[in-house]
Amino acid sequence: MAKKKLKIGVLFGGKSAEHEVSLRSAENIFNALGKDKYEITPIKINKNGKFKLDIFKNFDVIFPVLHGPFGEDGSMQGLLKVAGVPYVGAGVLGSAVGMDKDVMKRLLRDAGIPIGKFTTLKLGEKITFEKAKKDLGLPLFIKPVNMGSSVGVSKVRNEKEFNQAIKKAFEFDTKVIIEEFINGREIECSVLGNDKPIASVPGEVIVKDDFYSYNTKYINENGAIIQIPAKLSKKSIKEIQELSVKTFKTLSCEGFGRVDSFLTKSGKVYINEINTIPGFTSISMYPKLWEASGLPLPKLLDKLIELAIERFKKEQKLKTTVN
Ligand SMILES: Nc1ncnc2c1ncn2[C@@H]1O[C@H](COP(=O)(O)OP(=O)(O)O)[C@@H](O)[C@H]1O
Ligand SMILES: [Mg+2]
Repeated sequence: MAKKKLKIGVLFGGKSAEHEVSLRSAENIFNALGKDKYEITPIKINKNGKFKLDIFKNFDVIFPVLHGPFGEDGSMQGLLKVAGVPYVGAGVLGSAVGMDKDVMKRLLRDAGIPIGKFTTLKLGEKITFEKAKKDLGLPLFIKPVNMGSSVGVSKVRNEKEFNQAIKKAFEFDTKVIIEEFINGREIECSVLGNDKPIASVPGEVIVKDDFYSYNTKYINENGAIIQIPAKLSKKSIKEIQELSVKTFKTLSCEGFGRVDSFLTKSGKVYINEINTIPGFTSISMYPKLWEASGLPLPKLLDKLIELAIERFKKEQKLKTTVN
């Protein structure tokens, strides 16, 4: 008898500035999921955040292909956890800390992982340009804390740009991060697993624009080149892979995560961030790096679904009564 097909719900869209990116990631995943093994249902969340909650009960696994707030920040993961359905990727905690660049960087710093200097501002708090310049140098990077796809991110070199950048970042979030500029190559590494995560070969984003902005990522086709694998010394590859896995573990991530770092001319690695639901479009780094490491997309998706079920079963074994 043929094995019963697993019912997979692919959750996408969502109330986020990264709604459109999610549509492209979801299409790619939908097309590559093995139709012989899975019965696949796309579940679209519209831009107002509307979708049918009771729909979740019908699935063996939910694959959230959502980016940014409401999808990648632990809120959807909490909903799925309460609904009692296995889901792909980091749980509530890993998603929340991975999304918040302030909390993420504090945890990385605490674990001794190399990161750049930063300071954060809550809505209503102020810092003068002179103070930021004195503490962090120039140029500076200013970002909303809970965002992705470079939405609301600015590189600033003077006071006028500084004030505009802070205003812009606060349009997206109630907390803003100001970072020192790290002058380095942009290296990305894919991590996969639950308790024993593994790292892919690293890739490089060779940015031709001023920085890897939203425009460079999704609009200007000539703004950046993706190089897979990245041309690196064996030593740097090893260091980046080890730091990427350490970052993934430190941030309590599960399933998948793409760890992005900077590599300076002198060979020093700085971790920039983790993406707990990495881009999954047909040209995205996360699946491409696994392909280059010997794991093609359909197999990668099988693995992610397995990991979702493994985590769910582990959590189900936990006692919910005192005795
Ligand atoms: N501290 C920094 N130094 C140098 N470049 C940076 C720094 N922070 C961000 N960038 C540039 O801005 C891009 C987007 O910033 P990032 O922190 O990755 O935000 P997002 O989560 O939106 O991708 C990076 O890929 C890089 O090009
Ligand atoms: Mg980034």
